[in-house]
Order: sequence, then structure tokens, then C-alpha cells
Amino acid sequence: MRIAAVICAAGQGKRMGLGRNKQFLELKGKPLLIHTLERWKSFSFIDELVVVVGAAEVGEVQELIQAYQLNHVSQVVAGGAERQDSVYQGLLALKETSPNVVLIHDGARPFIREKHVAELIEAVKEREAAVVAVPVKDTIKRVDDQQHITETLKRDELWAMQTPQGFSYSLILEAHETALEQRVLATDDAALVELLGHQVSVVQGDELNIKLTTPQDIQLAAFILSSQEKG
Ligand code: CTP
Ligand code: MG
Repeated sequence: MRIAAVICAAGQGKRMGLGRNKQFLELKGKPLLIHTLERWKSFSFIDELVVVVGAAEVGEVQELIQAYQLNHVSQVVAGGAERQDSVYQGLLALKETSPNVVLIHDGARPFIREKHVAELIEAVKEREAAVVAVPVKDTIKRVDDQQHITETLKRDELWAMQTPQGFSYSLILEAHETALEQRVLATDDAALVELLGHQVSVVQGDELNIKLTTPQDIQLAAFILSSQEKG
């Protein structure tokens, strides 16, 4: 069983407001993407890892990978305009080796725990498609353009999707190719598999697996990092 990972890091980080890709944001003196890649280096069950970055960032990221001795990274490839395009480029980079399972993870989520990745792999082996997610704590309502509530959703049915999301390689490749043909754009990979009519299982993760998205997340990330360093 060959297991590959695709780390997508080719966004622009607009909501972070740094004026450049947030993957280069330094947390305790080290770029965010490097924190994430170091985490994945410690996961012994990953056979192959592809990093997807902006076309203009490939050289810089390759240098960082050398500097931090991240020799588990097998390829650095250029992404596309949307996250979905970037993931697809990552999947194409795996065509030659054609792994059995691929785990797709956001470069902006440095706090993923080994336990949850291991549980995800087990779920993918059984069901071909699974995601790490957490039950929502807040009540979620639908709100219209005028900021009026139009619907209250049932909280006990709602989960917030995280990454990694794992799939059999052939299934996720088919899902992305179908989406391309049908011009469907989704915010996560599971949605594309759902569109094929395939069931996706959920593995419960934890709320510390945040995606650094807005400036407030920087302080939160520094806090999580310190608390994990203390063990
Ligand atoms: N991503 C990507 N290619 C894109 C867009 C996003 O690989 N064209 C990656 C990001 O680098 C990030 C992950 O997908 O690791 C989740 O996306 P998001 O948090 O939205 O990051 P950005 O798109 O960079 O941020 P923003 O939406 O605020 O511009
Ligand atoms: Mg984005």
C-alpha cells in the first residue's frame, strides 16, 4: 500500500493581508509551510509527498526545503488559480508512481496530529474516501444579503471540514477530472467525490488543527505552538 500526500500551498493568502502568500509567514522564526512540512516528515506512513506552491515560488520553496533538510519532499510543483486547480496539479504529479491512497492537506494547517492522520488512513482503506472534521460548537444560521436570518440549521447534524482529506488515488483523480469537465468548483475535495455519488466518511479530529486564515490566527498559532513545545 503506497500512501502519498499533497500539501497545497499555492494560495495568495488575501485574508491574511500580508501582501504575499501566507505560507512564508514566520512563526517562531520559521515559515508556516515549513512547520507543516516538518510535521509531515514525522509521519512514517507517508511514502511520497508533493508540495504545490505558486509558479513564481517554486525555486524559493525548493531552497527552503534544502535548508531545513526536508528530504521527505519528493516534488515541488506549481499550482493554479483556485485551490482545486492546485490540488489537481498535485494529483497529476503523482501519476507516474500512482499511489494507492492520497491525503490532501492545506499548507496552512501546521497542527495536524499523527493520531488523526493514522485514523484517516484506516478509514480510507475501508471506504476509499474520508475526511478529518469536527462537530460545530456554534449555532449556524443562513443569512441573506441584507444580513437577515433566513434559516437556523440543526447543529447536531453539522461538522466543520478540515484537512487532511484522504481518498483512493483513482477515485480522487476521477472526481477532479469530472469536475473539470463539468466546470464544477468546490471548496474541498470531498465535495467533488460526493458529486460522483460516492460516500465520504468522517474521522473526528480536534479544534487545534486550525487553518491560519486571518491575522487573528497568528496569535492563536503562536499559542498552540508554545503549548505543544511544552508537551
Ligand atoms: N491554495 C492553493 N492554491 C490556490 C488557493 C489556495 O494551493 N489557488 C491552498 C492555500 O495555500 C492553503 C489552502 O489551499 O494552504 C487553503 O486555502 P486558503 O486558506 O483559502 O488560503 P489562501 O487561498 O492562500 O487564502 P485566501 O483565500 O485568504 O486568499
Ligand atoms: Mg483561498
